[in-house]
Amino acid sequence: MLRKKIIKNRKKLTDKPKITIKKDIVAPLQTVKGMRDILPEDWRYWDFILERAKKLCQAYGYRQIETPILEETSLFSRSVGEATDIVEKEMYSFYSKSRENLSLRPEATAGIARAYLKNGMANWPQPVKLFYFGAMFRYEKPQAGRHREFWQIGYETLNDPSSVLDAQVIQLAFKIFEKIGLKNLTIQINSIGCPECRPEYQKLLKDYYRNKTNRICLNCRNRFAKNPLRLLDCKEEKCIQIINGAPQSIDHLCSECHNHFKEILEYLDELELPYTLNPFLVRGLDYYTKTVFEICPETGPFAGLALGGGGRYDELIKILGGEETPSLGYSMGVERTVQEMKNQNISVPPLFTPKVFLTQLGESARKKSLKIFQDLTEANIKTGESFGRGSIKSQLKVADKLGVKLALILGQKEAIDKVIIIRDMKTGMQEIVRLDKVIDEIKKRLKNI
Ligand code: HAM
Repeated sequence: MLRKKIIKNRKKLTDKPKITIKKDIVAPLQTVKGMRDILPEDWRYWDFILERAKKLCQAYGYRQIETPILEETSLFSRSVGEATDIVEKEMYSFYSKSRENLSLRPEATAGIARAYLKNGMANWPQPVKLFYFGAMFRYEKPQAGRHREFWQIGYETLNDPSSVLDAQVIQLAFKIFEKIGLKNLTIQINSIGCPECRPEYQKLLKDYYRNKTNRICLNCRNRFAKNPLRLLDCKEEKCIQIINGAPQSIDHLCSECHNHFKEILEYLDELELPYTLNPFLVRGLDYYTKTVFEICPETGPFAGLALGGGGRYDELIKILGGEETPSLGYSMGVERTVQEMKNQNISVPPLFTPKVFLTQLGESARKKSLKIFQDLTEANIKTGESFGRGSIKSQLKVADKLGVKLALILGQKEAIDKVIIIRDMKTGMQEIVRLDKVIDEIKKRLKNI
């Protein structure tokens, strides 16, 4: 009996998908569908955005955090919501060797809420303000602005209920785009209420939809049964017509949610931020309470596509087993921001371009070159090299291609005499200088060019 049981269990543990490798086929050199390499040319944009976002987040009191890319699947089903597209259809979930049900993070807020509890952040000075930067994974249909691996920059303010923080979170989100140079953006904002007032609103919404279920899409019929708020998020033409006549959450808020929302709008007016009330904005994650918002281009090919979104999630930490911890946050999509930057012709600094090029000839010169190169870079002189090439001619060709102003030539004789030749690449004029004077000499010349 026991033996039978063991055999049965053993079968379960080894029950994994069969992997067959066809030996005669060369492994394909492709990325996984929906995932891409971020090449140096594009990384310039990532760098540009991150640098500005990081500076601003720090100035607003956020400190950097990185949570694991892999978390227990239940973290996301409990927080993002069992009946959301993200959890139902879009997670990369699998069983580990020890049969843990794990998922690649589809977003970062859930992981940060978990980190708040795990690391006893309730004992830190409150509110706890954290920002992050990293890759997220969602199994969506790849298209412009929708990837299966995409990057987010985001920040979360944990444990503060005041409406002024909602306004500050929105202010910072907008400021980041401003610093990047994006124009023509608008903030869409809504309040979806709290556990006090939302059930009543959801009932009204269901009542409204009850005799229309034969006119809505299949997805919406599912939403009607499982997650009625998400009915308002459908992009199908026939559903949009029905959405337009649906009851609106802002008309059914309890007095606390109503006042909270009114205060936020007053702060936004004071800040002169461009916002539009969107009574049908509900967002695709279940943890939100009260405020939800998105920032989108107003015009152009990506008009209406959210570059970033966020809101309040006062119940989330309680759902995960903690105390009452009203919190809020935001994240922006890096790919969509880059796409919009290109659309608005925002340029970013070019890749590293050296000003000086170090060439060398012969074994002892090459040995010395490594130290000279280090000294030049430590003196903040952007230096190029091509140590692997043999002849001075071929090295100077590279220098020419890079468009450097000055080349340094170190041959065997110069290495012995502790001197180096400085060549002006434009005029071809050459001069010998002492090695211990080369940095000062280059700095002087670069200033004058
Ligand atoms: P989200 O709206 O799901 O919110 O994602 C935020 C941003 O990530 C979107 O506005 C979009 O720019 C980008 N994004 C989402 N999915 C994709 C995709 N498949 N491909 C490319 N970019 C994408 C959240 O993730 C929440 N955690 C935001 C938040 C933080 N709420 C409170 N705190």
